[in-house]
Amino acid sequence: MTFSNERLAILYGSQTGNAQDLAERIWRESKRFYFKAVLRALDEYNVLDLVNEKCVIFICSTTGQGEEPDNMKTFWKFLLRKSLPRGVLSNLRVAVFGLGDSSYTKFNFAAKRLYKRLLNLGATAIVELGLGDDQHDLGYDAAADPWMANVWKELLLLYPLPSGVQPLPKDYIFRPRWKVSATALDVDVNRQNSIYYCVKTGNEFDSTVLENKRLTDASHFQDVRLIRFNTDGKHYNPGDILALRPKNLQWIVDEFMDVLSSNGVDIPPDSVFTLQQNDPDVPIPDVLRYKVTFSQLCLEYFDLLSIPRRQTFQVLAQLTDSELEKEKCLEFTTAEGQEELFSYVNRPRRNIVEVLRDFPNATKNLTTDVLFEILPPIKPREFSIASSFKLSPNEIHILVAVVRFKTKLAKERVGLCSNFLADLKKHDRASVWINKGSFKFPSDLDTPVIMVGPGTGVATFRSYILERISEGTATKDNLILFYGCRYRNMDFLCGQDFEELAEAHKMTFVTAFSREQYEKVYVQHKIIEHKEIVWKALQKKAYVYVAGNSKNMPQSVREAFTEVCIDIGGMTKEKAVHFMDIMDKTGRYQTECWS
Ligand code: 2AM
Repeated sequence: MTFSNERLAILYGSQTGNAQDLAERIWRESKRFYFKAVLRALDEYNVLDLVNEKCVIFICSTTGQGEEPDNMKTFWKFLLRKSLPRGVLSNLRVAVFGLGDSSYTKFNFAAKRLYKRLLNLGATAIVELGLGDDQHDLGYDAAADPWMANVWKELLLLYPLPSGVQPLPKDYIFRPRWKVSATALDVDVNRQNSIYYCVKTGNEFDSTVLENKRLTDASHFQDVRLIRFNTDGKHYNPGDILALRPKNLQWIVDEFMDVLSSNGVDIPPDSVFTLQQNDPDVPIPDVLRYKVTFSQLCLEYFDLLSIPRRQTFQVLAQLTDSELEKEKCLEFTTAEGQEELFSYVNRPRRNIVEVLRDFPNATKNLTTDVLFEILPPIKPREFSIASSFKLSPNEIHILVAVVRFKTKLAKERVGLCSNFLADLKKHDRASVWINKGSFKFPSDLDTPVIMVGPGTGVATFRSYILERISEGTATKDNLILFYGCRYRNMDFLCGQDFEELAEAHKMTFVTAFSREQYEKVYVQHKIIEHKEIVWKALQKKAYVYVAGNSKNMPQSVREAFTEVCIDIGGMTKEKAVHFMDIMDKTGRYQTECWS
């Protein structure tokens, strides 16, 4: 039942799926208030319709060097047109929420720009711009929850429910997005190497593994791999990214099957799933338009290692016939229950299969359509390319840190993608494609390039350095690499290669071995130690690149550069900070970090 005649559009720009998850959650919640809501990726939405909308909620993440996600680039380009009259959106009410990472200087830039531009075109804000931060313990939800509560409050003032009508309770009967029928095995089923075979995007291809080599010492705590893929001459540039589709490991598929069967849920692995739309506004993803078997879905589509989100417990609450389970699940869906939910799932990294085991009275009532509500699809993952096309035109190399760690749970936690990759053997295949990276290297080859890449952050720099070597343009003055690891003989990834190049005067290579002495030594300390070299390069208009996976590293490295400007450049603190800001703005200081 819909009371409001005004429709609500929920539009998202999402790179890795987090903004999409949030937009979907808002779309679901909108049903509680009887809104007639449409949900679209920004580039799937006809931007000309915007002038006819009354209310739009925008959810948008920021990627790369403060850029818009790929699936909103066309929309954003259109919105920037100078020819758009100022008041063109004056009938529109908007709410904008950004997903970003505060360890980047361009925190939530895409959302901030979008918000500003919408208001600039005449739109009215329903609430202030909301900014989610991946660095927060509770993730984006910490900011998204109160922000969304405010949006609903304002929307209900604008579009009040008829008197006597209350919003639906939190545990209202939730309708799955798609109708699913499972039938006996059908000969037509897609029997190719991957279910994505039929829906490969333009540049997606099957790549064969040439080598999967452990770079760290066998006794080192971390397993880091150099994986070489065969690419049959697919072109790429330094800074580009290899995207790939991981699959679930067999043991987790087996565990999932076991949880289902031990709770009496009988879905034969070779039954064929066919999906139909339940709601005209929620299309079926391309890959699910083909006939796929349940076992194919379990291997390639459902993310069985995913950490359940709040929405999952909403669905489980609906399924269970145990009062105790229902109460627990509902508590997890409330704002007050978030700490509790965090300690139950996020902190110990409890996966969905384990949660299903903990809630047997919900699990025993699982149906095929509900599976699509509680099991998110496996998302493609991205890795910086570590090789040079010019040097090895048929190969793409990546560096992969294999994620395995302990929590309070007895069983070790593993990362889906890195363990899928670690398991790949020579001649195995993976479905991959090449994306443009965010690093832009200078076109003038005499411009010094300072690279700071501890750990696997060094991948892109290996690519760039090898490219310059193959061009014969590498010198110790124009290529400067700061690299950090724990011990020379444990995790010195590709370090010997860089040392040889440095000995041949093809680059400057500075190492920070953090644990070879009592005090920690990091790349930022080495930048200060080599301040003359750094300052000389900065004076020659050097470009600086920082890549790696540490929360504090980017900030400390930036401070080290600021200190060099003060110390050798004779700048005041304010001047040095301003200098770094200019470096940022002019693209001479670029970061690519992950946690
Ligand atoms: P650590 O593990 O001894 O603390 C690659 O992971 C290297 O980056 C390691 O030597 C690691 O040191 C180091 N590292 C960890 N935190 C860092 C930080 N905040 N800044 C710079 N380097 C860091």
